Amino acid sequence: MRQSAGSASIHAGQGGRVRTSLNEPGESAPTLLVELENVPSGTFAEAEAVIDGESESLILYREGDRVRAWLNICPHAGRRLDFAPGQFLKSRDGLLVCAAHGATFETTHGECTAGPCRGQSLRSIAVVVRDGKVWHEASAAG
Ligand code: FES
Repeated sequence: MRQSAGSASIHAGQGGRVRTSLNEPGESAPTLLVELENVPSGTFAEAEAVIDGESESLILYREGDRVRAWLNICPHAGRRLDFAPGQFLKSRDGLLVCAAHGATFETTHGECTAGPCRGQSLRSIAVVVRDGKVWHEASAAG
């Protein structure tokens, strides 16, 4: 489902929230975040992984066969960027929009291009795509 919300699109039902239970918090084995086929190119999804010993929400963004990930924490006021779990706003020009106060982020480096945290960036998290799945490897946290 895709709805218009002002200048942004709501990617409801695309990607969405992904929960995995392959790893217990603190384990260093790779964590399966999402099956690539469940995240259409150009959309966002949310998954959880242990980062620095804490269970954290991640924003995943797929572009072709490539997936980028950031902590789901806005540099403005520390809020999640999704308006409901796994539901992210994307502007017509392809920017990720924080649902809290409307900051916009480009999807290459996660830098805020407009809004109250302009010039700051989301924290990038290293993920790998392997065998049609997206993984976080604890040693690759970044
Ligand atoms: S918390 Fe994201 S713009 Fe304010």
